[in-house]
Amino acid sequence: MADVVQPLGEAERTLDRDCTTLSRHVLQQLQSFGAEAQDLSALMNRIALAAKLIARRLSRAGLVEGVLGFTGETNVQGESVKKMDTYANDVFISVFKQSGLVCRLASEEMEKPYYIPENCPIGRYTLLYDPIDGSSNIDINLNIGSIFSIRRQEGDDIDGEARDLLQHGRKQLAAGYILYGPSTMLVYSIGRGVHSFTLDPSLGEFILSNENIKVPDHGSIYSVNEGNFWQWDESIRDFIRYVHRHEGYTARYSGALVGDFHRILSQGGVFLYPGTLKKPEGKLRLLYETAPLAFLIDQAGGRASTGTQELLDVVPKALHQRTPLIIGSNEDVALVESFIQERAREAQETTMARS
Ligand code: AHG
Ligand code: MN
Ligand code: MN
Repeated sequence: MADVVQPLGEAERTLDRDCTTLSRHVLQQLQSFGAEAQDLSALMNRIALAAKLIARRLSRAGLVEGVLGFTGETNVQGESVKKMDTYANDVFISVFKQSGLVCRLASEEMEKPYYIPENCPIGRYTLLYDPIDGSSNIDINLNIGSIFSIRRQEGDDIDGEARDLLQHGRKQLAAGYILYGPSTMLVYSIGRGVHSFTLDPSLGEFILSNENIKVPDHGSIYSVNEGNFWQWDESIRDFIRYVHRHEGYTARYSGALVGDFHRILSQGGVFLYPGTLKKPEGKLRLLYETAPLAFLIDQAGGRASTGTQELLDVVPKALHQRTPLIIGSNEDVALVESFIQERAREAQETTMARS
């Protein structure tokens, strides 16, 4: 029997005609071919290349040596380093080393920033990144991510302390993440909305899948590690008791911030990683985890808070500083904050009554 050629479906035809690649999208967003627009476009292209290299390695994780498991080392955070953490960290360095785009790269896996050597072209931006977010998911083949943030270098960095990076999150020029899930997605913002791209493995290109993503004002999902319940402040426990006692809430927690955040961005709700009594700052790092996601949620019309402050206003004192995180839909973030404010008010009244 002769082969029957099926006609293209409407969706396929549209995609074939309108494929928007990442670099073209950045230029369209900026409506300019000026130096900064070219730089940002090239930076995003490099990040996409790193994402493709990491995704390729992950896709064969169980088949090749040196992908799964630990290296036996401990990073600056005191966490055991996975082989993929090191691989992904090095991928970003090698992709940017000869690019002429950045002067430094700072990541979760390096105590001090990596400075582009003098025999390589040196650029004017800094890339901050979490090479693999959700490392505990690697060995069990569940979703993980990478998070990135781009800042312009300001002033001199003569002593190599990168103090100019210690500024609030509104200083970010661009931010985003890569989600290595059933498909690989890249979500980014250069301060003009949030846009997502899906890697088409047959083309080797990230193709635009959703433009100007807006987070709903409310969602049914709350995403938090409830195993920490007894280590939290009473106000966070109040919130959890509230969602347990009210209809219309459902819990989702994957152990990878990028995956959990992606769900909230798409469907609404709230993700929390609060401080604990022992660690009031929580677990997540400001410059390359919480601030980039706060930049995105702000652009998507949602909010990120530490519980007492807008996350984008937090000025770090150190490169690897941590912050509590409450992020997502406006109404749900406000609900968590209302419990924090209520307990703070009660504490203040008790203090006043005693004095
Ligand atoms: P990382 O793998 O970069 O160290 O980040 C892990 C983070 C984040 O992805 C996730 O939300 C959180 O740690 C999970 O921590 P718990 O196991 O404490 O819930
Ligand atoms: Mn992380
Ligand atoms: Mn990490």
